[in-house]
Amino acid sequence: MALQAASILPSTVSIYKEGKSNASLKETGFFGVSVPNNHLKAEFDCSLIKSKEFRKRELPVRTIRAQTATTTPAITEAAPEAKKTLRKCVVVITGTSSGLGLATAKALSETGQCHVIMACRNFLKAERAAKTAGIPKENYTVMHLDLASLESVRQFVDTFRRSGMPLDVLVCNAAVYLPTAKEPTYTAEGFELSVGTNHLGHFLLARLLLDDLKKSDYPTKRLIIVGSITGNTNTLAGNVPPKANLGDLRGLVGGLNDLNSSPMIDGGEFDGAKAYKDSKVCNMLTMQELHRRYHEETGITFASLYPGCIAETGLFRNHIPLFRTLFPPFQKYITKGYVSEEEAGKRLAQVVSDPSLTKSGVYWSWNKNSSSFENQLSKEASNAEKALKLWEISEKLVGLA
Ligand SMILES: NC(=O)c1ccc[n+]([C@@H]2O[C@H](COP(=O)([O-])OP(=O)(O)OC[C@H]3O[C@@H](n4cnc5c(N)ncnc54)[C@H](OP(=O)(O)O)[C@@H]3O)[C@@H](O)[C@H]2O)c1
Repeated sequence: MALQAASILPSTVSIYKEGKSNASLKETGFFGVSVPNNHLKAEFDCSLIKSKEFRKRELPVRTIRAQTATTTPAITEAAPEAKKTLRKCVVVITGTSSGLGLATAKALSETGQCHVIMACRNFLKAERAAKTAGIPKENYTVMHLDLASLESVRQFVDTFRRSGMPLDVLVCNAAVYLPTAKEPTYTAEGFELSVGTNHLGHFLLARLLLDDLKKSDYPTKRLIIVGSITGNTNTLAGNVPPKANLGDLRGLVGGLNDLNSSPMIDGGEFDGAKAYKDSKVCNMLTMQELHRRYHEETGITFASLYPGCIAETGLFRNHIPLFRTLFPPFQKYITKGYVSEEEAGKRLAQVVSDPSLTKSGVYWSWNKNSSSFENQLSKEASNAEKALKLWEISEKLVGLA
């Protein structure tokens, strides 16, 4: 038994990964907004949503001290008696039906200052998750988004715009991890599923919603892309094989499929664990390229983060049962990298709304005392030339260039 455990533990490190069944990919909903109650339903009536009156009612106001509204674009309303009246912050978060996304939605909801758009592929699962987590109905709206379909991404943006709500923060959080897959699977447009979902779907979403963020009159506007230590080869976890490596991006140029080249970005053989890590490198490179291109002009804060090892999330749902049993204690007692979903949610919520975390272009991490700090990205994940190349190829693949 001891031998068995010993042989499992190293492999638990090497398979720091989760799977996702293809069947669940088909569990997509349909166009639309899940409205929590009749009151909100009435407010989503198109004739109402365009009016300023609607906005005031839909997004209840709160009063904050002027000093706490820290950075960039000043809010539009007058500020009598050194106080400003501010509406709720509207935060779109992808993948809020479980794990980090759900915990973040809950943490933000508990502030009473945010309305979360839960952008999910499984409408009912998201509704149930919000209910189980105890998120008050007035603090969230579920909207359908399947990142594995660029058409769905465009539909989501359309639906969101028609809701009439402003956009103050976008959090690209959803992800799939297919470490045990023997063969690649593909998105609706034929891209390998992990990179197609985690990077290309989010790339299109971020690019389209940038215009909406620019229009926001909220004091801080942010675009956050969740990264991972596993994509950073300057860390121990990032050095567990297979390591992330985008190479010269030849597989991406070929469209990430078996027809033209390879389902892997670097043009190599399919490896589900590596595809996930590569996608996380893409997430971190994209955040930095967005920062270089748009921060100065727009005042938007672009950031990424590693929330810690949340060893019990759905990310590992398709892993072998023994891995799922041993991985959490291994992370808790041996690597000590473990964080609960609740703690990770609070960390991401900090990056969304904490006035002290408005620096742009930063990859946030937390130390043992749960204090945030600016972390260093690996050589590849901070390579500006690669970020530019990734940007240009991705633009073509998602139909923006
Ligand atoms: N867990 C960790 O230790 C860890 C560490 C570092 C970073 N992260 C990052 O944290 C983020 C959240 O992961 P998690 O650990 O919270 O895993 P999770 O519980 O599996 O959450 C992933 C979410 O993404 C959604 N999703 C998957 N494919 C989608 C698609 N095609 N369209 C829309 N949504 C989709 C899932 O929806 P369904 O419920 O419908 O499947 C789920 O809501 C990921 O970016 C991951 O890379 C996690």
